Amino acid sequence: MRIYLDCDTGIDDAIAIALLLAHDDVTIEGIGTVNGNTSAVQASVNTRGLLRLAGRDDIPVAVGAGRWRGGADAHGDNGVGGVVLPEGARPDPRTPEEMLIELARGHPGELVVIATGPCGNLAAALRNEPRLPDLVKSVTVMGGAVRVPGNVTGEAEANIADDPQAAKEVFEAAWPLTLVPLDVTMQHRWDERNKAALAASRNPLNEAIAAMLPAYFDSYEPRLRFREVPLHDPLAAAIAIGDVTPSEAPDLGVRVDVATGRTEEDPKARKIRVVLALDEPAGPRIRELLIPQ
Ligand code: BDR
Ligand code: CA
Repeated sequence: MRIYLDCDTGIDDAIAIALLLAHDDVTIEGIGTVNGNTSAVQASVNTRGLLRLAGRDDIPVAVGAGRWRGGADAHGDNGVGGVVLPEGARPDPRTPEEMLIELARGHPGELVVIATGPCGNLAAALRNEPRLPDLVKSVTVMGGAVRVPGNVTGEAEANIADDPQAAKEVFEAAWPLTLVPLDVTMQHRWDERNKAALAASRNPLNEAIAAMLPAYFDSYEPRLRFREVPLHDPLAAAIAIGDVTPSEAPDLGVRVDVATGRTEEDPKARKIRVVLALDEPAGPRIRELLIPQ
């Protein structure tokens, strides 16, 4: 399976990258970064550092453009909880949208696109290559809050709120789109035991993720009242590659309100597949992928 990952690395993006790297059937053909949890430039530094830890400097990383909104959030000052990663390979000279278009044209009908950050690069690629929806196999976006409250405002989720116009374009494009919103991601979490297992796994990438997790726990603990973190991005990645199977994923019309970043059901909107529930907890499965027994 050929993957293009678009991300704003980010602690849970880092877990998604580790999950994709761990999967035997998956080839990450390229990664693009976008402004979100941190700047696209810092997200690229983080991504390339993670790839260096995994011994995968061969995977090209393209850096997104535009100005970041700024501000530290759940992911700490550098996006990865203040953890200092090794310097990675040089970034790819292409823009993320150029990389995505090239990969889609090079492997027509094969490319599995996963977006774990705001949708700006995907929207730019759609504008530059109107045939893109016919060229890719599938698109999976972590984002939105369809039947539950948002996480940056009462109604909006971070990835959509950061670039609602881009999300609108991605939701309206004629490609097979799966949305993995907070409705399901908030239900699948890791706790301190998962962190301890990663720290003890004798794998540099897992150890780095374990070092990032305290910042993520700290940010969620006041909201959840448990020392747990939701697995937003790795869940989207696991669903995209078919490793985790949804039990409830109806085709719903979903509209993006550009003014507020809200994702609301609207029967008149283009129908997309919206993952609302899984049969089994995904946390143990994601841990097992990172720490094979
Ligand atoms: C999404 O926003 C970011 O904080 C996370 O990395 C995830 O992609 C959750 O709302
Ligand atoms: Ca993310």
